[in-house]
Formats: sequence, C-alpha cells, structure tokens
Amino acid sequence: MLTKAAETSELLPGGMKAVTLGGRELVLCNWEGAFYAVERACGHANARLERGALTGWILTCPLHYAQFDIRSGEALSGPAPKAPDSKHPDPADPALATRSLRTYPVKVENGVVYVDLP
Ligand code: FES
Repeated sequence: MLTKAAETSELLPGGMKAVTLGGRELVLCNWEGAFYAVERACGHANARLERGALTGWILTCPLHYAQFDIRSGEALSGPAPKAPDSKHPDPADPALATRSLRTYPVKVENGVVYVDLP
C-alpha cells in the first residue's frame, strides 16, 4: 500500500528524515535526488539512524559507526573497532553482530514521496 511519507522539498540531497508510517519507524534518505526508505533502528543496537551521516548511498550510524547501503539495507560493516586498550567488548563478539536493515520501495510523484508498505 503506497503511503504518503513526505514532500520531496523536505529532503535536500544528502538529507534524511524520520517518519512513522503504519506503526513503522523509517528513515527517508535522499541520495542525489533518488529517495530510499530504510528502517529507523540500527541493526546493531537500535540507534536512531537519521542522526547519523549519509555519504552517497552509505548511511553511518551515529552511535558506533556501523554502515549500511541504503539501496539494499545491507550491513556493510559493524561497530567501529575500539582501541586495543579499550575496556569495550570486542566488536567481533557475536553479541555485537549487525543485521542488515529492512528497506521499503519508494515512489515519487508530483513532489511527494510515497513508501510502499506491506
Ligand atoms: S547502534 Fe548503530 S552501530 Fe551500534
């Protein structure tokens, strides 16, 4: 079901916007005029991804810097490694595994961004 999510003017290229549609929290992303929708919660520890950085099609989490491909939701990397003398746990620990993000089809029509929700 196509659901209105935002006006295109609300998202400049490189911009992100959190929206709640049909009870789902998503982040809309504008990569050079193409719009994408991914789930809002980071696949590592649920940080709000719209607070991260969008560089091209790579979304970087603001908390531990896991990176995702907004086109597919694929987790490209997990949390950033800590310094060897850190007391933080090893990011290779399975408990810190990073899952890929769910993505949603997007359609743009007459300046409006629609997300196709299942
Ligand atoms: S919560 Fe996103 S990398 Fe840890």
